[in-house]
Amino acid sequence: MKGLILSGGKGTRLRPLTYTGAKQLVPVANKPILWYGIESLVAAGITDIGIIVSPETGAEIEAITGNGDRFGARIQYILQASPDGLAHAVKVARPFLQADPFVMYLGDNLIQDGLGGFVQAFKDQGLDALIMLKSVPNPTAFGVAEVRDRRVIRLVEKPAQPPSDLALVGVYLFSAAIHTAIDQIHPSPRGELEITDAIQQLIDTQQAVEAQTLAGWWLDTGKKDDLLEANRII
Ligand code: TTP
Repeated sequence: MKGLILSGGKGTRLRPLTYTGAKQLVPVANKPILWYGIESLVAAGITDIGIIVSPETGAEIEAITGNGDRFGARIQYILQASPDGLAHAVKVARPFLQADPFVMYLGDNLIQDGLGGFVQAFKDQGLDALIMLKSVPNPTAFGVAEVRDRRVIRLVEKPAQPPSDLALVGVYLFSAAIHTAIDQIHPSPRGELEITDAIQQLIDTQQAVEAQTLAGWWLDTGKKDDLLEANRII
């Protein structure tokens, strides 16, 4: 199993911090946010890691994070020329991922739970996608999943009428089936190749897509309040 950390993007919501640097390098308790994700993958036994970077901040991320030695991992940097969506990032990473299953981890997300249990469940059940969910008080602000007996039935982006209060956390496990799904989707109205559309494509073609709910906290440090909360918690 490989790891793919998404550390490109624009970081518009964290301006002005992100005018001068990558949001994934903003420190939480004196450590770059990105490093928590790397450590979490390594703790789950995933040491072959690709990091998606943008032309603007890639060199800085690589200079600070290095080749993986300090984490006991092998890190490759993969340039995404423009931030055209999470599924686009997976497409760009295909030469690195090949046909291996992988954990996709959004580089500005922090979760309390270890990844080991999720990786084990994904393997044991032979899934094509395992998505992590967290119950939130305001599901209209998130991508939300409708789930029946752990099977994911439907994903909806920022729904006016949420089918549940279960938001998609920025950590996903995929088999190589995701590449076929990504080849079949088109850019969304905001012009991005959306990973939710690719997962919905898996569901619609009867692939095994399941969800597990996180027990611990989840923070999206790409947002100011979550960034402050992350410093408080850690
Ligand atoms: P987002 O927070 O959804 O997007 P963003 O980084 O552009 O931020 P903002 O909305 O504030 O402008 O991205 C989630 C993570 O995925 C983040 O670590 C950046 C990364 N990312 C990529 O690597 N490539 C992409 O094409 C996109 C959209 C995001």
